[in-house]
Amino acid sequence: MNIALLGYGKMGKEIEQVALSRKHNIALKVDEHNANSYTVAELKKADVAIEFSTPHSAFGNIMKCFEAGVPVVVGTTGWIDKMEEVKKACAEKKQGFFYASNYSVGVNIFFKLNEYLAKIMNSYGDYSIGVEEIHHVHKLDAPSGTAISIAKGIIDNIDRKDIWVNHKTEKQQELEIISLRTDEVPGTHTVSYSSGVDNIAISHVAHNRKGFALGAVLAAEFMKGKTGVYGMNELLAL
Ligand SMILES: NC(=O)c1ccc[n+]([C@@H]2O[C@H](COP(=O)([O-])OP(=O)(O)OC[C@H]3O[C@@H](n4cnc5c(N)ncnc54)[C@H](O)[C@@H]3O)[C@@H](O)[C@H]2O)c1
Repeated sequence: MNIALLGYGKMGKEIEQVALSRKHNIALKVDEHNANSYTVAELKKADVAIEFSTPHSAFGNIMKCFEAGVPVVVGTTGWIDKMEEVKKACAEKKQGFFYASNYSVGVNIFFKLNEYLAKIMNSYGDYSIGVEEIHHVHKLDAPSGTAISIAKGIIDNIDRKDIWVNHKTEKQQELEIISLRTDEVPGTHTVSYSSGVDNIAISHVAHNRKGFALGAVLAAEFMKGKTGVYGMNELLAL
């Protein structure tokens, strides 16, 4: 399969390694140096595009893929305020779009665990709830896309939580997400339930970026020749 890499940074390079090891070919590489010069014709050489760039460039790259008729697998975070606009354009233009805030199989299993625990803890109002995410110092957006997905899993299942906030809070209906930036941490997410008598916590710790890269290439193989909007639930049949 011919793959276009839109964004050739830490993730783009990791994805390239996984793609080549699965006998795929990289037909195009785009980063800040050729972001404004790559053409729809060049993009059309690819069967699928994989987009891991920046919060400010993702939307433009997705729209260019729709124009080229190339299904796009997007991992970039920090742009999802435009998600509805993308899904609408995808449907109108009959194109293919795949998004995941986290492509690691382990994190998607963790999402299910988080929802299951929240369902149980809905009946235990004595516990305060907190989400913490730790990432490397180069990360541009906060909270992480993964922490936003975790918070959604809690808010959908805990009646006493209505919205998430990215700071400490005493307001009962607010779910706090605390973002820490340190060293070269690939991504650690923890959900804690705390009471006067005990604490319950679940965590996912990524050791490196390989899990994200493998998931993105599996999604690209899944998306070849497809139209419509998809995510990890469809890929993993979770
Ligand atoms: N969904 C997931 O599983 C997952 C996992 C890891 C990272 N991410 C997200 O992926 C994105 C990239 O992460 P990273 O660690 O590779 O960052 P990075 O800073 O190492 O790489 C970003 C790359 O994008 C390039 N770029 C800048 N403008 C561009 C444009 N207009 N078009 C194409 N490329 C452009 C930069 O030159 C750079 O090479 C971030 O938003 C990050 O949060 C998502």
